[in-house]
Amino acid sequence: MSKEAVKQAEELKVVFRRDPRFESVSLIASGGYGSAIRVRYRDPNLPTLREFLVKRAFKGPEARDALMTERKYLTRLRNNRHIPELYNIPENPLRNARIDRRDWIIMEWVGCGTLESFITLAKGKLRGGQRKNQNRKLPNRLLWSLFLCLIRGCIAMAWPDARENPTNEPPTGIVHGDMHPRNVLLGEPPRDEEHTFTPILKMIDFGLASEQGPNPTAQEINLLDIGDLMVALIHLNEPPYAYETPTVDFNNRRFKTDARSLVPFPPDIDPSLVFLVCSCMATEFDIRPSLDSLLQNALRAVREKTPAFFRNSREEQDNAIRELWQDIVYNAPVEESEEEKDDGDDYESEEDDIF
Ligand SMILES: Nc1ncnc2c1ncn2[C@@H]1O[C@H](COP(=O)(O)OP(=O)(O)O)[C@@H](O)[C@H]1O
Ligand SMILES: [Mg+2]
Repeated sequence: MSKEAVKQAEELKVVFRRDPRFESVSLIASGGYGSAIRVRYRDPNLPTLREFLVKRAFKGPEARDALMTERKYLTRLRNNRHIPELYNIPENPLRNARIDRRDWIIMEWVGCGTLESFITLAKGKLRGGQRKNQNRKLPNRLLWSLFLCLIRGCIAMAWPDARENPTNEPPTGIVHGDMHPRNVLLGEPPRDEEHTFTPILKMIDFGLASEQGPNPTAQEINLLDIGDLMVALIHLNEPPYAYETPTVDFNNRRFKTDARSLVPFPPDIDPSLVFLVCSCMATEFDIRPSLDSLLQNALRAVREKTPAFFRNSREEQDNAIRELWQDIVYNAPVEESEEEKDDGDDYESEEDDIF
């Protein structure tokens, strides 16, 4: 970590530590363009709002522009479950500390690490050491549920004001533009029907997001990105070598796909899931499914594919899935990440009040 990053993060920490409302401030990440700290909030009356993330840009206009872009999109995408909420803190100590308003954002803390660390740790857990566990994959029902989260995130970008349901309005044309496993976070399941025994995924880091007016192509680009994330989850980042663009041939459908490592379909993975991921990554945009049909398919799978559908195997039971991901997420060291971004635009400010 650069000296400058450490200095900036220290400065942020001091600002929050001076205020008795906040405690236990820690550095989360730091890269070429900024740093992030986690702040715990001391208020026994509000047990659910205990922490948040402060992300700060430094080193010149590019970082500031990216952060302003991020603020703009997080503002537009507020009230969507698969995107972190921006927070507004009364008597925000950053304002008194003369840290420029354009250089920081405060958002919901999403507490179970990145998808990248999840994949790495899952691989270690499922494949590590014991020979009989070689080639084990994540349970199908967990994969379906994580896929549903990613689909909901894409729907949020397409129709930001519809609470993650497709509508008949034209989609926005918002492209995330930087969707990789370090920019997707896992969080504890919210209390809803879709995340009972599985974590929620939230898309972060909108510093490179863009929009080209109502634009169906944006959806196809986001679909390709979530397809890639699913490939990483299915193969736990160890895809078999594949150099050709294969043809998928399934249920009377034939098309070419960029999901090279999924053809032939991997054993032990629900072929309907593999087919959908392949279709998100179809080389022809026309073949890629609509968000609505993807949602319907994923919802049906999450609701109807009980353990019985998977021959009642032990690892597909609710409890086994819950134990598995919690073990992966909580019994492992926290990671740090370093990466870069730029881009820019104006911002408006309509964050949620948190206290
Ligand atoms: N809302 C959040 N809750 C918890 N951790 C976060 C949150 N946002 C970011 N992080 C952590 O900080 C890292 C960097 O954040 P990110 O927004 O991706 O910034 P960068 O522009 O540096 O990539 C993430 O990979 C993640 O580990
Ligand atoms: Mg990032």
